[in-house]
Amino acid sequence: MREIQVDLAKIQNNYRTLKALVAPSEVMAVVKANGYGHGMHEVAQALEDIAVDALGVADLDEAIALRAAGIKSRLMCWILSADDDFQMAAEQNIELGISNFVVLEAALAANVKTIHIKVDTGLGRAGFAKTQWAEVFEKLSGKTIGLFSHLANTSEEEDLGQEQLFLEAETLALASGVKISQRHLAATAGALSYPSMRYEMVRAGIGIYGLNPWEDREYSQYQLQPAMRAVSEVVNLKRVPAGQGVSYGYRYRTAQETNLALVPFGYSEGMPRIAVGAKVLIAGKQFEVSGRVAMDQFVVDIGDHEVPLGSEVVIFGDPAKGEPSAEDLGASAGTINYEIVTRIGGRAKRVYL
Ligand SMILES: Cc1ncc(COP(=O)(O)O)c(C=O)c1O
Repeated sequence: MREIQVDLAKIQNNYRTLKALVAPSEVMAVVKANGYGHGMHEVAQALEDIAVDALGVADLDEAIALRAAGIKSRLMCWILSADDDFQMAAEQNIELGISNFVVLEAALAANVKTIHIKVDTGLGRAGFAKTQWAEVFEKLSGKTIGLFSHLANTSEEEDLGQEQLFLEAETLALASGVKISQRHLAATAGALSYPSMRYEMVRAGIGIYGLNPWEDREYSQYQLQPAMRAVSEVVNLKRVPAGQGVSYGYRYRTAQETNLALVPFGYSEGMPRIAVGAKVLIAGKQFEVSGRVAMDQFVVDIGDHEVPLGSEVVIFGDPAKGEPSAEDLGASAGTINYEIVTRIGGRAKRVYL
């Protein structure tokens, strides 16, 4: 009745495509937040099977869960709390991305083998502030670290400004006697846009799932294929007169006598409640969602089109096959594909192809 289909072979292919594109740089595949909703364990295993260079997650708990599941690949996490189990990070050979002195001390005390220092070059989130760089690099003099930062993707000018600061941080680190094993700055958008920013490694998330990192740029030229399809089915059909109000608050009223199809995929499954007018594919034709999405279901005015009961409804999938995309659904709800795929799920059955 409701299915999230994930094609792991497409994720493997997208990884290979990105790897070829940024060669000789390495690619860290980002599988945080349940693999952007695609299944952290399944995606990590599929990528380990093709000898992924490294895997990245946000939390140490995610990294520990991957090790517990038998993942042996290089593995890094970068949102750390002083309460995290640094001993475990050391024992499990989990690489840490460090943004403050408290966590740095804890990681050094636990003898974590590989640490990466994150410098804030302008995003204003994690990362040591520029005023702290001299102190952190002095503390690490003689040691080998990874150096990384994250782009704000605001404009080319601002991205290039961040790169300049990143290089300044590198110069300062080297002058302080720190050795740098790997530099990584770019995520998917930066890796595709700026060859100069690929350094020794890029951290690619959205790209390995085959989704567009931009809201306002074409993406098809990169040959990355969406790996997730969200599908449901028509479980009810009825003929209604003109003027029929549809769903809570009557955000939609039928203009003439018509047929309404009921699709059991609601905001509980991650279909945004405000996605009125989102397009879904039913029996080879795209129709708009009519009226408010409810917790368990939404309605589609299918006019006089032939739609048998039980017809498949593609909520999003591969636009190259005429299906609506996760980008389209995001746009209809004032959000982005990242949020759509990460929140999708609920009672939907997850199927791996
Ligand atoms: C630090 C960091 N690096 C890389 C990524 C991957 O970004 P993207 O999914 O845009 O490739 C993320 C995701 O948010 C991140 O937080």
